[in-house]
Amino acid sequence: MIRKIAVGVMLGSLSLGVAAAGDPAAGQGKVAVCAGCHGADGNSAVASFPKLAGQGERYLDKQIHDIKGGVRPVVEMTGMTDNLSDQDIADIAAYYSSQSASTGAADPELLEKGKLLYQGGNAAKGIPSCMGCHGPAGKGIATAGFPRLAGQHADYTAKQLTAFRAGMRENDPSGMMRGVAANMSDAEIAAVSSYIQGLY
Ligand code: HEC
Ligand code: HEC
Repeated sequence: MIRKIAVGVMLGSLSLGVAAAGDPAAGQGKVAVCAGCHGADGNSAVASFPKLAGQGERYLDKQIHDIKGGVRPVVEMTGMTDNLSDQDIADIAAYYSSQSASTGAADPELLEKGKLLYQGGNAAKGIPSCMGCHGPAGKGIATAGFPRLAGQHADYTAKQLTAFRAGMRENDPSGMMRGVAANMSDAEIAAVSSYIQGLY
């Protein structure tokens, strides 16, 4: 579990505060409304609903705040995050992060193409390798807020890459993912998304 320390300097006076640390047990009691789509343990059964199980706590915390604030609009979740406090969000993030992610499989026909892109990028098109930030096995870098991708539904992953490419999803710090996806073709998105679904 990550303990977060927030240090804020305001108008010349130093304010030192400890941000809400998430409590997974408390979080479990706050996800009843989420379970219908994301699964009771965060392993959603529907390919368009992302798996949250095993996802980095920092990333989850940021996404729920972004969804609540409208920085990342998710129409399916309209109204569901409005009443969540910072503590609720931290607890929910800690809960899903503590669950084990289920595995998936890659389409054998897309495996090689997806693997090449994931591991090596496409220098000619200026696409960086994914593993530099998401790790060789797609585990992400939790402390940096770089999300876990391993085992995620390919449909969901492809939708995110397409949205980053179109600039429709724009909550990525410094436009990192919009830059990565800008020159990806539909075929590359399909292949790398399938490969990611099979990572574990
Ligand atoms: C009616 C279905 C539905 C319900 C209920 C729901 N979600 Fe979602 N959620 C979605 C969909 C669909 C997306 C992905 C939207 C997109 O494609 O960008 C999403 C995305 C997310 C993400 C981003 C995941 C990622 O990998 O970036 C988080 C975190 C999340 N939901 C948390 C919650 C929490 C917490 C609740 C309960 C308070 C909840 N959701 C309830 C449908 C739902
Ligand atoms: C420079 C670092 C970096 C590189 C390289 C990178 N990513 Fe990302 N990626 C990120 C960050 C940071 C986020 C989270 C953005 C946010 O906070 O909303 C992200 C988010 C994502 C998401 C959304 C995850 C979710 O659950 O919604 C997908 C999918 C993704 N990246 C796929 C890829 C693929 C495929 C590649 C390689 C072609 C790649 N990334 C290369 C940093 C990177």
